[in-house]
Amino acid sequence: MIDLHCHILPAIDDGAKNKEISLKMLAEQKRQGVKAITFTPHFNFNRIDVDRFVEVRQRSYESLMSDPQVSEMGIKFKLGCEVYFSTKLNETDLDPLCFEDSNYILIEFPMDQRPYGLKHTIVDILNRGYQPILAHVERYPYFTEDPEQLYNLIEKGCVAQINAGAVLQSDKAALRYIKWGMAQLICTDSHNVKNREPNLKEALRFVKKKYGEEYVDWFEKNARDVFKGRYVDEPMLKKPKKILGFWI
Ligand SMILES: [Fe+2]
Repeated sequence: MIDLHCHILPAIDDGAKNKEISLKMLAEQKRQGVKAITFTPHFNFNRIDVDRFVEVRQRSYESLMSDPQVSEMGIKFKLGCEVYFSTKLNETDLDPLCFEDSNYILIEFPMDQRPYGLKHTIVDILNRGYQPILAHVERYPYFTEDPEQLYNLIEKGCVAQINAGAVLQSDKAALRYIKWGMAQLICTDSHNVKNREPNLKEALRFVKKKYGEEYVDWFEKNARDVFKGRYVDEPMLKKPKKILGFWI
């Protein structure tokens, strides 16, 4: 198992407050059988510039790696981040924000309303050769109410990620995206060990029970491909249809 979205690095965002919590989160990931992790602290253009963010992230990473318990765990690590959507993405060198050794860039959107310039900005990023991973797509009402919008972005080359927690809560949107083949990655988006804890194993167990082992294999293969910087297989997309006012 590989986790490509989590807030484990210490004291950098609203995730692990300190190294002690980071270590607890890593120990839990290890216990569940996670073999590789991409660290994705929040990055927001309104709060910090890219160079400074990279410096702060490096410091946080080194402080965690300096603990001997970490190397004993035998987990592979890469650096990434979770970028809060902004039209500034169009005018920024995105290499430092991509997952290490890849052109994948994890992007989250505002929850309340569809941001101005979403489609143009994402298409521009794709045209520049980057591959946006759309974070926790089950959370955005403007996609849930009109899933064709998300379908079109995935068809253009975006990768859609859903949260393990949403799967475990049988979140309607998350399960529909799995059913339609629109969710390509399941990640923890874990922030701590209390209420947003690492939970990949349980989520994949849930998927196996509800949809079958081939879905779990597919999610695991996609995560491996992203971690290694390879292309993800074509999604198993079924275009959502609206019948009598309901998306099916
Ligand atoms: Fe996140």
